[in-house]
Amino acid sequence: MAATAPTAPPLTWSRRHLTGIEPLSAEEARLLLAKARGYHEVSTRRAVPLCKDLHGKVVVNLFYEDSTRTRASFRLAASRLSADVLDMSASGSSVSKGETLIDTARNIEAMGVDTIVCRHSQSGAAQQLAEHVACAVVNAGDGQHEHPTQALLDAFTIAQRLDRLDTFDLTGLRVAIVGDIAHSRVARSNLHLLTKLGAGVVLVGPPTLVPGALARLPGVDVTVAHDLDAVLPEVDVINMLRVQFERIAGPAFPSQREYTALYGLTARRMQRARPGLVVMHPGPMNRGLEIESAVADGPNAVILQQVANGLAIRMAALALVTQP
Ligand code: NCD
Repeated sequence: MAATAPTAPPLTWSRRHLTGIEPLSAEEARLLLAKARGYHEVSTRRAVPLCKDLHGKVVVNLFYEDSTRTRASFRLAASRLSADVLDMSASGSSVSKGETLIDTARNIEAMGVDTIVCRHSQSGAAQQLAEHVACAVVNAGDGQHEHPTQALLDAFTIAQRLDRLDTFDLTGLRVAIVGDIAHSRVARSNLHLLTKLGAGVVLVGPPTLVPGALARLPGVDVTVAHDLDAVLPEVDVINMLRVQFERIAGPAFPSQREYTALYGLTARRMQRARPGLVVMHPGPMNRGLEIESAVADGPNAVILQQVANGLAIRMAALALVTQP
């Protein structure tokens, strides 16, 4: 019997917005990753040629929460595509005078904006924005819901490290996401994307920080575990999350010392891992809490590659959603 041909990717991108990974098909995710691969190849050449893909377009960064990497990355990505970029934050704008997200966005849009990149503390903010403006919206993190470009840059980095950049097929790989899953939009977006690309995911952390409901998502290869030492020898990739104290209401674990003892990625614990384990962290890191410096700066870590790849991913996302 003839082998089944792989599903052909869609030839064009038809989504106006990138609000999350959950609504994307695997083909759409691969299309975006492949576009990022093209930009990545260009940006790693010595002399970066001027790319005019968004020449004459206006991209606005509308950030209602603090950010270092994501904000700078979207800004640079838009500049590299020759777009005009406007950077706005809640402090120093009329948001601090009580203006709503929608009103602010509509006013910015009235100035002739093509794409709004939004980060907000409310889950669903990007989707709400998308329903009220005519321009394109890219979610740069909404509450505890999704952070799609982070998941895409994480998947790109895994594919790069494990030599799967040609297909972005992660079948057979096992990825542990460790730590404060409950409050993490990075975990949610990663969970959706990694499983769409064929990987199996295990969520690891204290019972107070790992919602069991995530392990019951239909059609998704995900399990929950509370013993990191047992999981470590079984996985190809480990993504260490920050404990998001700003989102945790009560005490989620007895002490930081105990947290590190059970869930911190230390050099000692790394002895249990496969030699080629890929160590990831979305940043910002709490060194000494969820990850020890010897590991974060060690040979298994791809943390700075994640940041570097973020640029190509955001170039791809902006180029695909922004109307020609
Ligand atoms: C994450 C975020 O803001 O969701 N960081 C990031 O965007 N790289 C994770 C975090 O804040 O811990």
